Parts: sequence; C-alpha cells; structure tokens
Amino acid sequence: MVKLNIVGVGPGSAEYVTPLAHRLVSEAQVIIGAKRSLDLFGGDISGKSHVLTAKNLNDLLKYAVEAAKEGKHVVVLSTGDPGFSGLLKSVLNTKLVTSDDLNVIPGVSAVQACAAKLGLCWDELCLFTFHQGNVSDVRKTELTACLKAGRSVLLFPDAKNFLPKDIATYLINSGFDPNMSVFICENLTLDNERIVKSSLMGVSTIDFAALCVMVIRVKREDDDV
Ligand SMILES: C[S@@+](CC[C@H](N)C(=O)[O-])C[C@H]1O[C@@H](n2cnc3c(N)ncnc32)[C@H](O)[C@@H]1O
Repeated sequence: MVKLNIVGVGPGSAEYVTPLAHRLVSEAQVIIGAKRSLDLFGGDISGKSHVLTAKNLNDLLKYAVEAAKEGKHVVVLSTGDPGFSGLLKSVLNTKLVTSDDLNVIPGVSAVQACAAKLGLCWDELCLFTFHQGNVSDVRKTELTACLKAGRSVLLFPDAKNFLPKDIATYLINSGFDPNMSVFICENLTLDNERIVKSSLMGVSTIDFAALCVMVIRVKREDDDV
C-alpha cells in the first residue's frame, strides 16, 4: 500500500493551514474530511472528495484504508492536529493499519491556539479531552488530581455529556473554590472567536459554543498575573 495521509488542518482559519497540507490535498486522488475541513481547500481539490460525518466515519475510514492499499493517494483531513483528540486514533482503531502505514502531518491544535491566545505556556498544563463521550469517573478523578496537585488544566469539553457548565459544577461539588479562574475560548481563529474570562461559579450558569476549549487556572505563588 502507499502510505495513508492523515493531515492536520488547524483550528479553523485558512491562515493556519500549512503549505504541505495544501500540496498533499492537491495531489490526492481521494480526500476525506468534515465539511469545514474540506471547505478550507476549495480550489486545491481535483480528486474525489467525501464528506465525513459522525454516521459514516467508520465506513469512510475503512474505504480510505482500502483505497490506499490499492495504491491510491488518499488524504484524511483532521481538524487541529490529528494526534490530539483527532482522527489518528480513529484510523488506528480500525485495526486495518499500523502507524507504519501512515503519513501523519501535524496541524495547529486548538490546544495551541487556546494557549497562545491566553499567553499560557502549555508545557506546564495538564491536558484532557472529554470530547465525544470520553467522559469517565477515572478521567474525572484524574482532572481533580491535577488541580489538587496545583497544575492548571486545559481541556476539550464534551458537547453533550460534559459541557463547561457541567465541569464547573462538578468541580465546585468536589470542593474546589467557586472563585477559581476559568477561561473559555470559543471558535478560535474564526470570525466569531470569543474569549470569556470567568470563574467556576460564573461558568456553571453559562452555555457556550460547541467549539470551545476550557482552561482552569490554578494560581501559584510564582505567577505574575
Ligand atoms: C474532534 S476534537 C478535534 C481536536 C483537534 N484534533 C485539535 O487538535 O484541535 C474537536 C474539539 O476540539 C476543540 N476545538 C477544535 N477547534 C476549535 C476551535 N477553533 N475553537 C475552540 N475549540 C476548538 C473543541 O473542544 C472541539 O469540540
């Protein structure tokens, strides 16, 4: 097989798409991605494109692997970076390929866009994704353990089962200070980007856009802000 390309396309704005992503898409015979990802490449696409949805995800990823095995140049577009809460895991979960069969192209993750927007060094943050049902008691306990250890957290909420307001309520009920600082970054890099600076208590009553990243800030003595 030729390597299957899993290409990160950044957080949303066309300005964050890499030249390499453009080249691979323009050379591809098959391009698979969510509508918002495909829309970033309008003029580049000459191959056959397929719109990925939650419903057809498994079927289209299997098709992508089969097409690559037949020798076709295939690109699977993954929002942000493929390796963080992205399509790399979904492709590997098909069990039809290993990492050796893949050409993974990094993209700017919403993690990076959020940290940059807030001026945070993300090498010091605990990272979590609760996205798409990744919500479990174990993971919630890991979240509280990070905060109790004095580490700030950056996380992707789940748009159905663990919204920012659910997370804030959970943390307040777990004994954290309701005045703890919380930042919500919605629709990063897009025209409707919005940054909300609030507290656990404040966030516990607000609805946010589905596309959002949440930062829970533990203030440390050496902080200058
Ligand atoms: C399927 S995950 C994809 C994450 C992607 N692989 C990445 O590295 O950014 C989708 C989640 O990422 C976050 N996200 C992606 N793009 C975003 C953006 N432009 N603004 C805010 N959050 C975003 C949201 O939490 C969203 O629910």
